[in-house]
Amino acid sequence: MTKHGDYTDLPILAELYDLVPGYINRTDREFYLNLCKEVDGKILELGCGTGRILIPIAEAGKEITGLDLSEHMLSVCQKKLSLLHRDIQEKVNLIQGDMTNFSIDDQFNLVTIPFRAFQHMISVDDQLSCFKSIHHHLMANGLLIFDLFQVDLNIIKNRILNEEIEDFPDYELNDGRSLRRTHRVTAFNTEDQFNDVELIYYLTDKNGITERIIHAFPMRYFFRAEIEHLLDQCGFQIIHIYGDFDKSSLTENSLEMFFIAQKI
Ligand SMILES: C[S@@+](CC[C@H](N)C(=O)[O-])C[C@H]1O[C@@H](n2cnc3c(N)ncnc32)[C@H](O)[C@@H]1O
Repeated sequence: MTKHGDYTDLPILAELYDLVPGYINRTDREFYLNLCKEVDGKILELGCGTGRILIPIAEAGKEITGLDLSEHMLSVCQKKLSLLHRDIQEKVNLIQGDMTNFSIDDQFNLVTIPFRAFQHMISVDDQLSCFKSIHHHLMANGLLIFDLFQVDLNIIKNRILNEEIEDFPDYELNDGRSLRRTHRVTAFNTEDQFNDVELIYYLTDKNGITERIIHAFPMRYFFRAEIEHLLDQCGFQIIHIYGDFDKSSLTENSLEMFFIAQKI
């Protein structure tokens, strides 16, 4: 059987999210955690998902609001929080909402958008609207920190269409099921700078029956100068741009782009 959808309509995707080895081991968590610890005051995380980054920040004693479009991702996050000490739960406020244009009755010292969630903003109008909403919710001199992948021009140029590329091989889950994942690009919308992407999960139950679950979504890609212009237009000055979680400089070989910007 095949299921097809995204985080908002397929609850199973929220369950699978925390089982992806590449997400569990992703070193961005330390990066965000350390930056959040350096900032006094309230934090807002946009696209907080299942709390992979939000929960360690709350555990470090920071007050944090998490906003996400998907009630399923938020419900996994809430379930994980409910197992923690009450003091930690009280640090967290979860809100279902769209980062494209949001209104929260609060002001923050820091807004973060971890793990490429800003790449869900496909149109320039949505990108501007998101940055303007963030600006509106930041205190004077407040910070905005987010990451994007750096564009690999070979992927755009070679255009390998519909071919599934393995992300991780089949591995056994704690409950006896097993999971593997591939990904593929189903359309290159080069003129609008986004790809239609599918993450394809193969979930096999104890009887050997495999379900194919497709997480399909458009993914915008950005160039550094584009982000510089967008931030400038929305009232931010850039303080740092990094090329990796170890704060190394951005070079043409960097896989990531991290921006730290300040409200002006
Ligand atoms: C790659 S996940 C990142 C989750 C989490 N930040 C992490 O690092 O594990 C992207 C998240 O962005 C959320 N998202 C996508 N579009 C959104 C939107 N327009 N507004 C708010 N959240 C959105 C998805 O539901 C998903 O939880």
